Amino acid sequence: MQDLHDKRIVLGLSGGIACYKSAELVRRLIEHGATVDVVMTEAATRFITPVTMQALSGRPVFVDVWDARVPNNMAHIDLSRGADAILIAPASADFMAKLVQGRADDLLSTLCLARACPLLVAPAMNREMWLQAPTQRNVAQLEQDGVNILGPGTGSQACGETGDGRMFEPAQLLAEMIGFFQPKSLKDKHVLITAGPTIEPIDPVRVISNRSSGKTGYALAKAAWEAGATVTLISGPTALTTPHGVTRIDVETARQMHDAVMASIKGKDIFIAVAAVADWRVENVSADKIKKNGKDTPTLNFVPNPDILAEVAKLPDAPWCVGFAAETERLSEFAHEKRLRKGIPMLIGNLAQHVMDADHTTVSIFDEYGEHPLPPNAKQDVARQIIQAVTTRMSAHRP
Ligand code: CTP
Repeated sequence: MQDLHDKRIVLGLSGGIACYKSAELVRRLIEHGATVDVVMTEAATRFITPVTMQALSGRPVFVDVWDARVPNNMAHIDLSRGADAILIAPASADFMAKLVQGRADDLLSTLCLARACPLLVAPAMNREMWLQAPTQRNVAQLEQDGVNILGPGTGSQACGETGDGRMFEPAQLLAEMIGFFQPKSLKDKHVLITAGPTIEPIDPVRVISNRSSGKTGYALAKAAWEAGATVTLISGPTALTTPHGVTRIDVETARQMHDAVMASIKGKDIFIAVAAVADWRVENVSADKIKKNGKDTPTLNFVPNPDILAEVAKLPDAPWCVGFAAETERLSEFAHEKRLRKGIPMLIGNLAQHVMDADHTTVSIFDEYGEHPLPPNAKQDVARQIIQAVTTRMSAHRP
């Protein structure tokens, strides 16, 4: 996916063992369409060579402020003027202190000071260094100066200790960069999303479930986070990784999903029900495994599960609700009817046989004005379009 198409990023490396992760990061950024200029401090070149970074970025790497390759000898101006963003990863404690003081004694610090674009910083250091008062003061000051601090993560460190201070993984930093460039249409909004299938037990080893992969729900959670929202994802069993920045609550049955939604719904601005919730559950669940033993085929009695979306939409202070409908025929007719029956302003409909478990999807938005088909696209791109559509409709309905 070319999420960073047309984006030019200066990737700055200061001295730290996490420089090895920046090799992977540069590849990921390029894979997603970015052009990456790598600038390294002298200390960073002790951890990873400029040759490696040049080979991976496919562009010259800059270290020296006196670089004769730059015709006007002003690499600090040239590089920062052409950039959409500067990302310092890893950012050492020393480099952050330099940024705070506005020092400019090497190429990387000079171009940060000379920048006319946003600056993002991914700290990487030992946990004690991170926790020290001067570092915390510097981080607070950088935030006040409008610098975006990405991380740090927590976990085992190269020094053998465990705690805060690990640089975010390349995948997390990639997600942060993609998210950074998305419009912040849901800033300060709280979004609750259900995703994936539910499973309904028959006995301790058998279940009834459905073929939902959870991909669309997870893509929406990611898109909502990218748009600046605080996102909670209530998920049935899937094999997917939680999108960066999203809080995930795992459930199995429809009733567990219902209870988790009702416990989380207070204070939410938007509820997006993507989960393929089982409409019925088995009433006579067997406490023990049902044995064949030459007996008759077992009979399962079904009782209806609660309709989570309809119940949320009826709450007195209901959030703005979005439903999904995966149909196998007569999409327009069923989707319009379902939107009205659930009492919701917007429903996304698609033909299930075309999209189940796929990475691409074709959907239509159904609202009070009719059906609005979206062009076929990757689920992540469609998710971003849906989030934009939600934002537009919500602001249009604001009293
Ligand atoms: N939904 C829900 N709780 C349920 C069933 C559905 O929250 N118990 C939500 C789904 O997450 C989806 C929407 O309602 O957003 C539509 O789900 P669907 O199963 O297609 O609708 P039903 O009302 O069950 O209609 P039918 O199965 O007859 O098509």
